[in-house]
Amino acid sequence: MEKPTLRVGSVSRMSPEDHARLREQVEAHGCVHLIQTGEQDSPVDTLRALSVHFGDPVFHNLSDEYGIHPIRYIPGYPEYANANVEELGLHTDGSFEKTPPAFMLIHCEAASGEGGDSTLASGDRLYNHLKAAHPDYLAALSAPGAFTIWRDDRMAERSVFTQMGKRIRLAYRSGYDVRIDIREDAVEAFHHVRDWLLQPENFVRFKLQPGETLIFDNMRMLHGRTAFSRDSNRSLYGLWCNGVSGDGNAVSCGIDPGRLAA
Ligand SMILES: [Fe+2]
Repeated sequence: MEKPTLRVGSVSRMSPEDHARLREQVEAHGCVHLIQTGEQDSPVDTLRALSVHFGDPVFHNLSDEYGIHPIRYIPGYPEYANANVEELGLHTDGSFEKTPPAFMLIHCEAASGEGGDSTLASGDRLYNHLKAAHPDYLAALSAPGAFTIWRDDRMAERSVFTQMGKRIRLAYRSGYDVRIDIREDAVEAFHHVRDWLLQPENFVRFKLQPGETLIFDNMRMLHGRTAFSRDSNRSLYGLWCNGVSGDGNAVSCGIDPGRLAA
């Protein structure tokens, strides 16, 4: 799969053309890896400046007044994947919330020496694969309530692929920190997705470096990370955005079957 890279001087001094290219990359590929080549702004300033394209912040327990939350080992928060060091398989965020976040921005302050690599897979490719090779699986995964997911007091019934107007929203999760019940007629399809996501040609793996930002469409891309040491000083900051901005100018999210068919 393709992960586009965009190089800019400093985020705070991006030109209107830089901003337009950023939007184009996310629209075209569902993600962009932004590298600052000049003086770096603070993680908070960087994320706030970039988020103007992706809607309003989505807040949660560990986020600050701007919705920005730390992603590093924090003892005492076993329930938060972001505060822990274990491997996280490819997933979308917030599948147990009523409305999952539309976009995620991750900014790297310090990388870990060993491990802590980022992984990314394309929901467009997954959708195309199922449509061409396993339409029965695609139908089973698109049925309402294909899986039910619980995390602490939250629960949601979901499809892996949900039609939202002309777009399709992807939701997928597996792993140690959530409970998932898959509807009987979707079990085989769900396992097929799990196995597809383990094949090296279906994801990219890379290490975010200090000053770099990864932006992705959480309704179209899956993300994960490899394990790292608790002693590592890996420090990232995350910001979820809801894809809805006051000026109506946020980038559109989700898989676009019309684009894929073109
Ligand atoms: Fe995540």
